[in-house]
Amino acid sequence: MADQTVAAESVQWWRDAVIYQVYPRSFADGDGDGIGDLTGIRDRLPYLAELGVDALWFTPWYASPQADAGYDVADYRRIDPAFGSLEQAEALITDAHALGLRIIVDVVPNHVSDRHAWFQEAKAAGPGAEARDLFWFRPGRGTDGELPPNDWQSVFGGPAWSRTANPDGTPGEWYLHLFAPEQPDLNWNNSKVREEHESVLRFWFDRGADGVRIDSATMPAKDPALPDFDPDTPPVPHPYIDRDDVHDIYRAWRTLADGYEEPRALIGEVWLADPERFAHYLRADEMHSAFNFDYLNCPWDAAALRRVIDATLAAHASVGAPATWVLSNHDVTRHVTRYGRADTSFGLSLRQHKTPTDLELGARRARAALLLNLALPGGCYLYQGEELGLWEVEDIPGELRQDPIFHRTGGTDIGRDGCRVPLPWSGDQPPFGFSPEGAAAPPWLPQPEQWAAHTVQAQDGRPGSMLTFYRAALRLRRGERGLRGADFRWLPGHTPGVLGFARGDGFFCLANLSGATVPLPADADVVLSSAPGFDPADPGAAGSGAGELPTDTTVWLRQR
Ligand code: NOJ
Ligand code: MG
Repeated sequence: MADQTVAAESVQWWRDAVIYQVYPRSFADGDGDGIGDLTGIRDRLPYLAELGVDALWFTPWYASPQADAGYDVADYRRIDPAFGSLEQAEALITDAHALGLRIIVDVVPNHVSDRHAWFQEAKAAGPGAEARDLFWFRPGRGTDGELPPNDWQSVFGGPAWSRTANPDGTPGEWYLHLFAPEQPDLNWNNSKVREEHESVLRFWFDRGADGVRIDSATMPAKDPALPDFDPDTPPVPHPYIDRDDVHDIYRAWRTLADGYEEPRALIGEVWLADPERFAHYLRADEMHSAFNFDYLNCPWDAAALRRVIDATLAAHASVGAPATWVLSNHDVTRHVTRYGRADTSFGLSLRQHKTPTDLELGARRARAALLLNLALPGGCYLYQGEELGLWEVEDIPGELRQDPIFHRTGGTDIGRDGCRVPLPWSGDQPPFGFSPEGAAAPPWLPQPEQWAAHTVQAQDGRPGSMLTFYRAALRLRRGERGLRGADFRWLPGHTPGVLGFARGDGFFCLANLSGATVPLPADADVVLSSAPGFDPADPGAAGSGAGELPTDTTVWLRQR
């Protein structure tokens, strides 16, 4: 009986895993071309194992023209030459598994690259050809088809349609791209699109991938009538967001994932405001978990966080799925920066840029947020570099920026390059060990000089550093049985500005966002505090030792 419980727990590893997002282009460059690669990652797997995470999620590493940093996939069965080879990816998976790290790869069902063989064929084949039915080709409107087929706008700015030329060179049909023109949308009503994606999943699952992260998961199903609509008052159902038939895709994927002896996990990128609609993706025969963007978007405010936590737990409980907690990724402003601003909320449409930012305050809150995230029930996502306390790099010159959002909005939206700057590993000047000595090229985005104090080398073993703190928190979380499972209770006697909850037997988490110091309970010991200067080896020595909890601080407590 006991054995069976252990086996069931390990098979459901995704329920409470800490998953570290690796952005391959910016993690570590093994060959000195200024671009991160698989050799660089393989060399640093021991670092990730020592950090104490359970799994790694890799943003797309497949062959791609990199029009959207790999989210424009030209061939899922090859690795982009800038990153390495398929053999290297296989070796990386083997090495990671040997270190106890699981692997999640990215799939992008909504679109492929315009250089994908299917799109090339479709374009060459001309109007009416079967090959075009894999995408959304349509004649234009206007007298000569010179206007797009409808009024949809691309998420990256500008119209969601681009016109093609006919094989004879005359202007031809238009095709739909909800993102960049280099990312044509696939037609999921075509069974070949379904079969191919299932084959891609098998390709990676057979190579040992433990799960997939599903890109833009609410968008692949479209209203085939492609109606015009006003984005401020979209119709229900929406022409392309969260349509009911999108769920058929994930039901089929779940059957496939469950067919493996150790079932593979499906993790959705589901940006949806409605918690009930969100939970639909997590029904027992669909995905295993999804990113909690409500939490990511939430301001650093106790009442707002409490509301989001309650809503999250209720929505997930309704379908028996574990919640997730996430604050940063490769699409959003790093949270050290967000939390150092007067307005700590975040929305993709209101990316703030160069507003006054107190990075010290942001870092203090980021530490407090980590202990909160890791103590909440469910899984937790970390984005590479947050364990070093990295902030958003805001002074990247326009000519070096690569994000299509920056270019397609004419710079009105500064884009996502600032959270994608290559990691600092060692040394006191760029490339900070990101590339080997004597590298042929500088890092693909410039690193700030101030990162000299934030390298892994500078923080390794240093008491009080962000890295030491992350390692201590992750180690404690792993050993704390009370942090497993769904058990969660808000503490009675609610103090405004303070979040307090209990997990398991005698384990408590208290987060103080009140702006003032609050007393700590007298009958509990501090196990770990986020206060800078707190020493986990000697919990009584500093920080919260005096029976007081400073503001913007979280503590883990055990009942005496
Ligand atoms: C979401 C990904 O996280 C983002 O980086 C990408 O640009 C879009 N989906 C389009 O694939
Ligand atoms: Mg390289």
